[in-house]
Amino acid sequence: MPKSIAIDGPAGAGKSTIAKKVSAELGFIYLDTGAMYRAVALKAIETGINTKSREDLINIIDNINITITHDDNVQKIFLDGRDVSEHIRTAQVSAGAADVAAIKEVRLKMVELQRRIAGEKDVVMDGRDIGSYVLPQANLKVFLTANIDERAKRRYEELVLKGQEVYLEEVREDMMNRDHNDMSRAFAPLKKVPDAVEIDSTSMTIEEVAERILYFYNNYANI
Ligand code: CDP
Ligand code: CDP
Repeated sequence: MPKSIAIDGPAGAGKSTIAKKVSAELGFIYLDTGAMYRAVALKAIETGINTKSREDLINIIDNINITITHDDNVQKIFLDGRDVSEHIRTAQVSAGAADVAAIKEVRLKMVELQRRIAGEKDVVMDGRDIGSYVLPQANLKVFLTANIDERAKRRYEELVLKGQEVYLEEVREDMMNRDHNDMSRAFAPLKKVPDAVEIDSTSMTIEEVAERILYFYNNYANI
């Protein structure tokens, strides 16, 4: 059985940054499940459909082809054959991703792909429902948090560095809305499961968080 570490938590908590480091350290692949919901949202936006419309989204996912590749532990995501790894990182796609992620049929399709990948390779997978729904048998479950001001600041700085024109207050609002949607949806919401280790990264460096997770994995993982 391949090994797995599940990292869940709200937006900007540091999941993907930490998951990349931890996976590189352990020789696992890193799977960013948020990118899949973002790719569905991008397809909906480009097709001109409402990202909240269940009926239209069911049509979209019936004909969608999402593939993930890993080269040197860098994940690339392809939507219908096109590399969209960068296109999915906009504010519009972020908001759309939280919409499409609330639709059960969309989740079931993405979860199938996520489980298939975890069945083949050792993986550090990050998202919202990995420990609670996708991989309930994960060897280690981490619930990573940080306070909203810190998370908004981190994401804002990241977007500014990428050259995007954004306002801190808008980034903060978008995160609060998405967190609310993610925690309150009926199917597979964001929540901390009892067997997850909670790490509050508000005043921790990336290295400290990664070390803490490796320590837990090496000493307390359920293997
Ligand atoms: O994946 P998630 O949305 O949880 O967060 P992320 O994209 O990994 O992290 C958002 C930003 O915060 C990145 O630019 C990280 O470099 C930064 N970060 C940080 O400054 N300190 C941490 N302890 C973790 C992440
Ligand atoms: O990087 P950030 O944390 O801002 O977002 P992300 O991880 O790329 O996820 C984008 C959106 O996809 C989230 O706001 C969730 O609504 C959704 N998502 C989810 O529902 N379940 C997952 N396993 C991963 C993401």
